[in-house]
Amino acid sequence: MSLPTVTSLSGVGAEISGVDLRDLSDEAFGEITQAFSEHGVLFFRNQTLSEQDHIEFAQRWGDININRFFAAHPDYAEIALVAKEPDQTDNIGGGWHTDHSYDLEPALGSVLVARELPETGGDTMFASMYAAYDTLPDDLREQVQGLRAVHSGRHIFGAADDTYYSKSDAGRGRIGNATVADQLLDVTHPVVITHPMSGKKALYVNPAFTTHFEGQTREDSQPLLSRLFAHCFSGDFHYRFKWSPGSVAMWDNRSTWHWALNDYQGQRRIMHRITIEGCALN
Ligand code: SIN
Repeated sequence: MSLPTVTSLSGVGAEISGVDLRDLSDEAFGEITQAFSEHGVLFFRNQTLSEQDHIEFAQRWGDININRFFAAHPDYAEIALVAKEPDQTDNIGGGWHTDHSYDLEPALGSVLVARELPETGGDTMFASMYAAYDTLPDDLREQVQGLRAVHSGRHIFGAADDTYYSKSDAGRGRIGNATVADQLLDVTHPVVITHPMSGKKALYVNPAFTTHFEGQTREDSQPLLSRLFAHCFSGDFHYRFKWSPGSVAMWDNRSTWHWALNDYQGQRRIMHRITIEGCALN
């Protein structure tokens, strides 16, 4: 058993080498935990995780969230399938977002394992919400102090004709339980959170699930939300991860955004995702 080498990447994240995720000592796991808390997203190459290994690695971080909306692996309920078939044009996660912000206790993070990759394309973008907060212009920083934002999953996963997955073919065979999504209650979180592991401040709004600010209408919230999103879109704190067979990414849903690029039409891409339960955010 060896200790990990942590190489910081430009923008956000770190590549971890020198370890086999099937066989991590407590010391190596401690160093990976520290890197996760600091960098927000970790990339591992040349891993050979079976589905059971994937589950066991995820369980070291906490309880596994059984996804309510994504199709599950036929033999492992813990594994959500992030799949796109050659005849589908839309993909899952094809826009900047962070998973589960619509939950009262948003997920800690997700572990994504590449199972079948397109010959070209299918990279994933990541953005640091620590850096987004740190680089906020002063006037924006003042405006978000003490604000809370409302998050919802209904307009994404719900049954109505105009939800994200109803309108696109990304949902076909891959997303379900729309009636459960329709019953999701709105939740609020601080716009600036103190990260539960690192103690650092992070901006916690995202274009997919954040609908408005608490105490304001959607219309009144739009100008500030749009400025915050524009700041995050254009920042110098992005990293584009190119997958290869054996790649594993683990991201922190509290301190990063991600976006699965959809530039591989006519090809298949199959990823296995496990999401780990988190805690309330302050
Ligand atoms: C996701 O949003 O969870 C999917 C990311 C990816 O497929 O790269």
